[in-house]
Amino acid sequence: NKAEPLKVMISGAPASGKGTQCELIRRKYDFVHIAAGDLLRAEVAAGTENGRRAKECMEKGQLVPDEIVVMMVKERLLLPDSQEKGWLLDGYPRSSSQANALKEFGFQPDLFILLEVPEEILVDRVVGRRLDPVTGKIYHLKYSPPETQEIAARLTQRFDDTEEKVKLRLLTHNKNVEAVLSMYEDITVKVDGSLCKEDVFAQIDSALRALRKQGQTPLGSL
Ligand code: AP5
Repeated sequence: NKAEPLKVMISGAPASGKGTQCELIRRKYDFVHIAAGDLLRAEVAAGTENGRRAKECMEKGQLVPDEIVVMMVKERLLLPDSQEKGWLLDGYPRSSSQANALKEFGFQPDLFILLEVPEEILVDRVVGRRLDPVTGKIYHLKYSPPETQEIAARLTQRFDDTEEKVKLRLLTHNKNVEAVLSMYEDITVKVDGSLCKEDVFAQIDSALRALRKQGQTPLGSL
């Protein structure tokens, strides 16, 4: 009698470390990592009409309309691997309408992780962020530098990773975060995301282990 796969959401301001923690969580727990921002960037890269509309919003740091994002996330959640392994949803929901849509489709998370990071740290993290297009790995020039010269030479930067644009993304985040949080209060764990990535992961890991141990009793009813 195999335990039900866990369903986890991770939320936090831009550059709070969601993608970085998801990589560490996935390595240990083998959940399927579904990042709304990555799905959108793939659509932008594919040059579709939805991708074109999404990019316009992303460049302004605004939320992409629900009719694009909701279906995209729903379809990914319904794929067999998400159902079998459990999922780790990153950057979704970002509004109460997105949270309600998920609920209506019958997706109920077991845990909602909120990464808390002071605003002054976020800008520093954004401007130093680099991505490896070959492995998809996230680096930071100062905090998480590439391992080799070869990797360093091929790193790229996201089109919305400037100080000006992260401030716009932050405004959008601050406007929406309370409404989303209030829907998951009973299953929320707040994590200090300002520490080094290993120490942030240790907090998340202990919440996930506790959840596994409880045989998935919702945190709020412990
Ligand atoms: P999205 O791609 O989700 O961007 P975001 O929320 O701004 O978050 P980031 O990806 O920038 O940061 P992160 O928290 O993953 O941090 P990371 O681990 O990389 O969304 C982009 C856009 O898409 C949105 O603006 C919106 O337009 C649209 N969108 C997305 N979802 C949507 C939705 N649901 N609805 C509508 N629109 C949507 O870390 C950042 C840097 O810091 C890295 O360099 C990393 O190495 C470093 N770092 C990480 N952790 C640490 C640490 N502990 N110590 C030191 N450095 C660290």
